[in-house]
Amino acid sequence: MIRISNLSKVYTKGRNKVVALQDINLHINKGDIYGIIGLSGAGKSSLIRCINRIEEPTSGDIWVNDINMIDLNPTQLRKARKKIGMIFQSFNLLYSKTVFENIAFPLRLDKTPEKIIKEKVNSLLELVELTDKIHAYPAQLSGGQKQRVGIARALANDPDVLLCDEATSALDPKTTQQILNLLKTINKNFGLTIVVITHEMEVIKEICNRVAILESGRIIEEGNTIDIFSQPGNDITKHFVEQSQELPEEFLKGNVLNLSFMHGTAHEPVISKVVKTFNVDVNILSGKIEFIQEKQIGKLTVEINVEPHKLLDIIKYLEENHVRVEVMKK
Ligand SMILES: Nc1ncnc2c1ncn2[C@@H]1O[C@H](COP(=O)(O)OP(=O)(O)O)[C@@H](O)[C@H]1O
Ligand SMILES: [Mg+2]
Repeated sequence: MIRISNLSKVYTKGRNKVVALQDINLHINKGDIYGIIGLSGAGKSSLIRCINRIEEPTSGDIWVNDINMIDLNPTQLRKARKKIGMIFQSFNLLYSKTVFENIAFPLRLDKTPEKIIKEKVNSLLELVELTDKIHAYPAQLSGGQKQRVGIARALANDPDVLLCDEATSALDPKTTQQILNLLKTINKNFGLTIVVITHEMEVIKEICNRVAILESGRIIEEGNTIDIFSQPGNDITKHFVEQSQELPEEFLKGNVLNLSFMHGTAHEPVISKVVKTFNVDVNILSGKIEFIQEKQIGKLTVEINVEPHKLLDIIKYLEENHVRVEVMKK
């Protein structure tokens, strides 16, 4: 569906050069909700904007639906972009126009007949549940409602791909959840391929089946969301995984371990086996079940007060039983 090959982007301002992207290779399948996560300045916006050439790549190739975007002349590019919708953190709505006219805008550019515009806008308004706001102006809408208008406008030309640049970063958690649910519905019902860039782990966990981690303009890890976040391979990935599970300081005195249970490993037998086998007390500090892509991962934070060599044996035992172990710092 989307194939990015050896993509680089260098910004040049006078004598200054900023290398924003270096040798990016990515493959996004049809129907994926593909997440790209990274810290601020990692190159996320540059990457997503190169896909539809809003930003001109310095080198590399970008195939969307077997068309190399790089080969297109301006007329061809305009046509190809109609099949690539985009939404933004700041919504980018036309503030002097009504909700109806905002959504109709791309269709008017195409000289679509009025009757068809009306039908299309009405069905999009129904989809994003904003029928009652048809005559409202953007200033009269909440952030979540503005993004719904953005989504409806992005879908007006029946695109195959939707690019989302930090689409929920300006929204509160509850509204974020609603927008993510809407994106999920669109992906399921229309088979739309969605590319999501974000600095928020929760967004990736909630909707992305695959994820790439971008760091200083390079992809440092890539794969199924569930695999990447249950076995993070490097520090940046760990940073994102741990974002949502911080513990109060006072817990970090003994030998505190973070345990992740996957692939059907049940918590209790493993823990009670540790207690029996090693004759230790296991103090459970916190526990929760997380869902990544509707798959369960059990997370347990435990404290075991034993000598270091015994703790190492326990860690080895847990890992042999398919529990991922992470030792918390004191
Ligand atoms: N138009 C630009 N001109 C010069 N440098 C830019 C421009 N846009 C982005 N950059 C630089 O490129 C790097 C990546 O930026 P960006 O793609 O916006 O990252 P992110 O979206 O992950 O925060 C940063 O160092 C940023 O300062
Ligand atoms: Mg950005």
